Amino acid sequence: MTAPAPAAPARTGPAAVICGIGSYLPPDVVTNDDLVARLDTSDEWIRTRTGIATRHVVSPGTATSELAVEAGRRALESAGVDRPDALVLATTTPDRLCPATAPEVAARLGLTGIAAFDVSAVCTGFLYGLATAEGLIAAGLAERVLLIAADAFTTIIDPLDRGTSVIFADAAGAVMLRAGTYDEPGAVGRTVLGSDGTLSDLIEVPGGGSRQRSSGVAAAPDDGWFRMRGRETYRHAVNRMASASRQAAAAARWRTESDVDRLAAHQANARILRSVAEELGITAARQLSNIEHVGNTGAASIPVLLAQSVSEGALLPGHRVLLTAFGGGLAWGATTVVWPDVKPG
Ligand code: ACO
Repeated sequence: MTAPAPAAPARTGPAAVICGIGSYLPPDVVTNDDLVARLDTSDEWIRTRTGIATRHVVSPGTATSELAVEAGRRALESAGVDRPDALVLATTTPDRLCPATAPEVAARLGLTGIAAFDVSAVCTGFLYGLATAEGLIAAGLAERVLLIAADAFTTIIDPLDRGTSVIFADAAGAVMLRAGTYDEPGAVGRTVLGSDGTLSDLIEVPGGGSRQRSSGVAAAPDDGWFRMRGRETYRHAVNRMASASRQAAAAARWRTESDVDRLAAHQANARILRSVAEELGITAARQLSNIEHVGNTGAASIPVLLAQSVSEGALLPGHRVLLTAFGGGLAWGATTVVWPDVKPG
């Protein structure tokens, strides 16, 4: 007989409550036909295998920090906050390998002096960032934290790799979190996080890090590009998001089949999203999706989805929302929130 799971430790300290949200998509749009012009692919393949029709990409010279500043500014405005105590930036594509990008983003937002650092968890970055921000608040180290998730993903995509070029895109999303109580709308539920580094090779940029530099062998030109073993990644994505979601929902005492009003899953691939929802017994009408016109925007995916869904009236105050993500690391996570009455800035 399986022993019952140990009870989760009681939560102490103030809760982290979402009180503002913002997102930013760079203006340049790439259609499937634009990709067909340079790759051996088709609009039909991309639509049926990924669910993507168009995506936003950065123009030459635009870095992650520019996207992050725009989304961060909008979240501050949405919350009516001038000066948070900390800024956490979740990103896969920092402006430079060193230093972290967050201090520069903070400076450009007029926030020089506050705590600012990056979190690196690829497509699960927003959920890892949420847990980090919550930790700062629960420990009494900050009352208000600006969490930004931003990726200029196309800057690491090999333009000749049809397996990744058709999926990835660029965006930033942000939420403001303040100290509050666990029973109020916007309070972040118990966040479930996990990783499996034995599968770190499934999703990687092999060159440029200390592994390659310490080898004494110069990086091959292609080693700076992002690589993903798509088919294998796919299977893990569905299993991990579904199981993390079940754990997060159980901690909130929600049944996924009947108590979840909206599923906000990392927009990796429309087929993955459908499979995760089916596993959880969540109908298509309760699944938020913007992948058709946004693509897979890495860490930014979930906050951009939330902000757009609020703007379009698909996500309303009081909705019980289940959030889940999966990506390189491998890393995954899930959490819950009763949606607060916030308008994107
Ligand atoms: N156009 C046409 N054909 C293509 C394309 C393309 N753009 N890309 C691949 N193909 C071909 C392949 O070469 C293969 O051909 P073959 O059978 O002759 O070898 C065939 O299509 C099927 O390839 P698969 O890789 O099995 O295609 P699949 O249906 O799995 O779709 C995709 C590929 C979209 C990458 C999918 O596997 C996927 O979405 N994987 C998971 C992505 C994910 O969740 N990543 C984690 C989060 S993101 C992150 O962390 C950064």
